[in-house]
Amino acid sequence: MTHKEFISSEMMDHKNRLQGKGLKALFDQEPQRFSKYSTQCDGLLLDFSKNFIDEQSFAALTSLAVSKNLRQNIDAMFSGKYINNTENRQVLHTALRARPEEIPCQYGEQIEVARKKMFALADKLESGDLKGSTGKPINTIVNIGVGGSDLGPFMAVEALQHYHTTSTRFLFVSNIDPVQISSAMKQCHWETTLFIVCSKTFTTLETLANANAARSWFLQQGGSIQDIKHHFLAVSTNLEAAAEFGIPEENLFPMWDWVGGRYSLWSAIGLSICLAIGKKGFQQFLDGGNSMDQHYRSAPYEKNIPVIMGLLGVWYSDYFQSQTQAMICYDQNLVQFPNYLQQLDMESNGKTVQKDGSATDYATGAILWGGVGTNTQHSFHQLIHQGSHLIPVDFIVGTQSHVPIANQHRDLFSNCLAQSQAMMQGRSIETLMEEMLAKGMQRDEAEQLAKHRFIEGNKPSNTLVYQRLTPFVLGQLIALYEHKIFTQSVIWNINAFDQWGVELGKQLSKTIGTAIENPEQAHQQDSSTQGLINFYQNNQ
Ligand code: F6P
Repeated sequence: MTHKEFISSEMMDHKNRLQGKGLKALFDQEPQRFSKYSTQCDGLLLDFSKNFIDEQSFAALTSLAVSKNLRQNIDAMFSGKYINNTENRQVLHTALRARPEEIPCQYGEQIEVARKKMFALADKLESGDLKGSTGKPINTIVNIGVGGSDLGPFMAVEALQHYHTTSTRFLFVSNIDPVQISSAMKQCHWETTLFIVCSKTFTTLETLANANAARSWFLQQGGSIQDIKHHFLAVSTNLEAAAEFGIPEENLFPMWDWVGGRYSLWSAIGLSICLAIGKKGFQQFLDGGNSMDQHYRSAPYEKNIPVIMGLLGVWYSDYFQSQTQAMICYDQNLVQFPNYLQQLDMESNGKTVQKDGSATDYATGAILWGGVGTNTQHSFHQLIHQGSHLIPVDFIVGTQSHVPIANQHRDLFSNCLAQSQAMMQGRSIETLMEEMLAKGMQRDEAEQLAKHRFIEGNKPSNTLVYQRLTPFVLGQLIALYEHKIFTQSVIWNINAFDQWGVELGKQLSKTIGTAIENPEQAHQQDSSTQGLINFYQNNQ
């Protein structure tokens, strides 16, 4: 596919027509936009009316999905076709949350066995029977992993804090920077701490370094080699390497090559989530993911949340050249959600090669960033409202709080709506002039100030609304974004499931590490790297 084939003149005409009109005019013209451009899946609402769409352009967008055989691609993923073509792998994270009768049969038993093992451990923790080697109950769990083996569990354990079944403390260590593991260790006692080493490959530098540091700390604090089996678990596809590290077989939880790292929190990589919210909560989390899977597979494109959001993402990246996408969660529980989504989206769709190896000459994965509202209003919203970039926003908000205090949640909700409204309609010079003149300001001064206060509007957004962020809703949200990303990868004809781009840096860091250790090798580096190595050495 080339830019020319993809960016059709028909679609460009729609884009120019709608942008020329403006979002506020679209609402004036179609007062029923909300009922027309909103849809639901099991209590999760998507309002996508504040976008540059009307009947014709929306139809053109959904035809794009038809022309790219989206439905067939979805079926290929769910039925276990080898759609990760550069690694010759199936993509079956959806099987981990499927109902037993839907699981592609060859994996059903393995999934069941692993899940039972997770549930048994969660029961043990909940009943106080999960004990360390000296018989004291475990009260601290440290997840050691990075990327997909960290971000999802970290995000979900935090997001579901109101559903934790015990008072166990959960800590997450991912960075090679020793600051993180050492500050975690300060909060642990060796007799009551359980380490979960999560690594799909069990070869990742950061995770192995931190796991070794944790083991050394454990032994220094008073634990013995025999005690390790009460304090270290591992989750990996590479069970041999985990066993070599010293983790006994009964403490190993499996992973499979048909689950991508960034899609793995549904597997035993999500063990910390399961331990935090218990087996019932974890099952609800899986059910939420499955509910979105059913919706994605069966809802017509016009009502299909991941399809609509995926198509709108393509619409803005390729027709409006928007480049970035903001994610603003009006839910403090989702404080880690933008970080988690950064890996999910950018590691999946940050590609410029099509599935057949030809180059893309059109924009692909957007730069994703964000934070939690209302805090973000006081940091970067200015740039969205009046800056020079077009930044589509996804707002996420609940209608109820887990911890109501006075009117705070109502104010949180109204702030979310106010931001999307302000971004959509802006504030005209005429309105500003009326306001300022009514307050007695001189016309000259008002005219000058109005230029600065003018807000164009025309900033598109989606709003996702649920009642409360339950395990089920979180499962729905995650699966929604997984499928949004997949939808876009199909339209862009790229493989969302490999990540070759991250390999080069891993290799080079080894060579540079060797050059730092052996100064005689530093001259083989480019002059910048050589200069920086020298500076490092001179400053030890
Ligand atoms: O470096 C990127 C990456 O390969 C991610 O895709 C993955 O989630 C992360 O590293 C961790 O990998 P592992 O689980 O194998 O340690």
